[in-house]
Amino acid sequence: PVYQVTASAPVNIACIKYWGKRDTTLILPTNSSLSVTLSQDNLRSTTTSRSSSSFEKTRLWLNGVEEVIKPGARLDRCLAELRRMRKENVEDKDPSVPKLSTWNLHIASYNNFPTAAGLASSASGFAALTASVAALYGLNAFPQHPSSSYSPPADASQLSLIARQGSGSACRSLFGGFVAWEMGKDSNGRDSLAIQVAPESHWPSLHALICVVNSGKKGTSSTAGMQETVLTSELLKSRIKDVVPSRMSSITQAILAKDFDSFAKITMQDSNQFHAVCLDTFPPIFYLNDVSRAIIAIITELNRVSVEATGHLVAAYTFDAGPNAVIYTESENIKTIIQLLLNYFPIDFAASPFNDSFQLFGVGHPSAAPFPKGFNENVSRVWEKDSIKGLIHTKIGDGPRVLGEE
Ligand code: DP6
Repeated sequence: PVYQVTASAPVNIACIKYWGKRDTTLILPTNSSLSVTLSQDNLRSTTTSRSSSSFEKTRLWLNGVEEVIKPGARLDRCLAELRRMRKENVEDKDPSVPKLSTWNLHIASYNNFPTAAGLASSASGFAALTASVAALYGLNAFPQHPSSSYSPPADASQLSLIARQGSGSACRSLFGGFVAWEMGKDSNGRDSLAIQVAPESHWPSLHALICVVNSGKKGTSSTAGMQETVLTSELLKSRIKDVVPSRMSSITQAILAKDFDSFAKITMQDSNQFHAVCLDTFPPIFYLNDVSRAIIAIITELNRVSVEATGHLVAAYTFDAGPNAVIYTESENIKTIIQLLLNYFPIDFAASPFNDSFQLFGVGHPSAAPFPKGFNENVSRVWEKDSIKGLIHTKIGDGPRVLGEE
């Protein structure tokens, strides 16, 4: 027989950034991090895993292209962990179940967004792989889709230990909503896991707007870049020791209280400091470009006029290891922000592969609107050659889903 499970998993975008490993094999970080899980309605990885005693070897296809599985590398280690859990938790307890831990696997994984969009496909990819093989092995029950009353299974944190060994940020995609990756202390990594801070239902008005700035492949990979930083940056040491621990607790408080001002300020400060430690790396690493910096200037100006008028911030930008911006804001401001961006960037919606995401949330195909009162229209007009190539408007979403079993 062939056993088969398909599962999907979401993308997550960190507000407190993971950057640096203390163990590069087990993927143990030098600081804790915290992210927001984005809705799988827009962005997801979907993985089908099959197991059969007749498969001659374990094989993997990514977006339809077969990849080489290197012995001892990340995928191989994740699968070894899942096999061990299958044997210890299932087969040793019930000798009547098939010995799937000894059979080879065929795994096929797809992203529903272009890899070229420069979004975190390794996070959703390793989370979907972990969720699908875990379900195949009877280790976990992520809810079936559609699920009205989603709550993550109690042992999702245990599975996050496995996803973490595929790609650090993947451990956070095992939960929906607001998720912390606690760095842990043990050298064996057993306490370096993801926990849910609050489910997506906690703050449904918080939305994300992804500005796809550069769809090309990034210069320095996260994996290589962060180790250069660990080796050469003095600033990283003080970030790890003096900054991140207090930010982790303040942003957790802000999320629990739905305090957008604090959430936004900490998120922007942490993105800025992450890019500062990249610049402090020797030789330096540059992920932001002129368009990224222009987006920072526009959001900063928007927040300035808003604080003047209402006393509150309206948006927070954050950037990962590339020039794309993710803007967090309450849903009522999405339209204004898109219209504001259109005053600066000639976004060609017809040519954008992402234009559908507008209709999904009723924003409609927008056009530029007048600047808010007091807004400095000359803020950073520096991007004549380059622009925003697409916008994706998305909600906060849930964790992995099992889509089908055979
Ligand atoms: C900037 O998880 O991609 O997105 O563990 O080496 O696979 P590896 O790195 P990865 O790094 C993500 C870095 C980041 C910040 C974050 O997501 O926290």
